Amino acid sequence: MGKIIAFNTFIEVKHLFINIHILAGVGEHPGQKRGKALQDLGIIQDAFLLTNHGLIEDYGEMKSIDFNEYAPAEVQDVSGQCILPCWVDSHTHLVFAGSREDEFVDKLKGLSYAEIAAHGGGILNSAKKMQEMDEDELVKISLHKLNELIKLGTGAIEIKSGYGLTPAAELKMLRVINKLKELSPIPVKASFLGAHTYPVHYRENHDGYINEILTEMLPVIAEQKLADYVDVFCETGFFSPEETKTICKEAAKYGMRPKLHVNQLNSIGGIEAGIELNALSLDHLETLTTNDIELLGSFEGGATLLPTAAFFLRMPYQPARALIDAGAAVTLASDYNPGSSPSGNMNFVAALSCIQMKMLPEEVINAGTINGAFALGLQNEVGSISKDKKANFIITTAVPSLAYLFYSFGSNHIAEVWINGEKFHS
Ligand code: NIG
Ligand code: FE
Repeated sequence: MGKIIAFNTFIEVKHLFINIHILAGVGEHPGQKRGKALQDLGIIQDAFLLTNHGLIEDYGEMKSIDFNEYAPAEVQDVSGQCILPCWVDSHTHLVFAGSREDEFVDKLKGLSYAEIAAHGGGILNSAKKMQEMDEDELVKISLHKLNELIKLGTGAIEIKSGYGLTPAAELKMLRVINKLKELSPIPVKASFLGAHTYPVHYRENHDGYINEILTEMLPVIAEQKLADYVDVFCETGFFSPEETKTICKEAAKYGMRPKLHVNQLNSIGGIEAGIELNALSLDHLETLTTNDIELLGSFEGGATLLPTAAFFLRMPYQPARALIDAGAAVTLASDYNPGSSPSGNMNFVAALSCIQMKMLPEEVINAGTINGAFALGLQNEVGSISKDKKANFIITTAVPSLAYLFYSFGSNHIAEVWINGEKFHS
């Protein structure tokens, strides 16, 4: 790790990083990276980076640096190390009340999903724990989880509700997410996922629950400004494309754009519904027909792949290469949740995307940073090393190349994480 070689006590707001082996993700980004352009990762070898008051002020080649122009700044020599923008994790369920490793072990012993559900497992298990947990306790454990992710390089995040499933518990979850917005140094976006599954008392009365979402949840959430986006689990046995449209059209009246769970297990028309609803992103995408891939190729929003969910559930991975070839705005996120992806480590998401989906190192960085930022409407704040964006970046350990970060999976290659121009400590 480089050491501080100059120091100015009265201006600690300017930081100058010098001798950066590779500075990645630089440049301006008018739109998401698609097709061949997903490989275009702005790179400067032997670079410098200057931050000022929490923002990126300048960057360039070491040979063009003028120390007088940038003084006084705290200077850090990072010879041999790389700097890349922090991950933007655009799909998580980070707020949950308990883990589900019992279920995990039951599955290892051969129990089926249906048997686990019959024993009160799955989303309903998480909902029961959520309904019982005290709000302050929930804030405390969620903030701890969020800080763990920041240490792993996540510099902006989306968090969904969806483990409440009653008006009181959904509102509690959203208040917790909004509390994290206040307490955390990174941008947090909240999505309302009341339509995650049907609560037990509405199992035989789906319309009754949808009506509760429309009349008792959405208006209060809008009034209290608790959600930025709306989400629905559009899937056989959960919410149909028609039900998805009903919920999202109502949410649109309050200005909430959809980011939807579609095509995880079945292709039932979720993509068509999402396109019609002007979704900001369509997420999961394990199960795609040729027509779905074509539709996503010309879809304006993000096509968000969650490979750790496929990994954990032992499902086929998302067809990343076909989606990239079709021109989709391929985005990577963790899906961090207790049931299908009990890890929010974006470094593992990136490695898995290379190893199992044959994405290139440059592609996974773009998909997990700038395209993630677009999938959260945060493209002007985070997702790249661009002038006036937040100084949220990862300083790696000394590595020979960017490819090494994902090839040598499982090792910790993060030396420091900087958020708003300050080294992150929790
Ligand atoms: O995104 N598929 C729907 N929801 C979550 C999993 C929920 C759970 O099992 O707790 C997901 O994978
Ligand atoms: Fe999810």
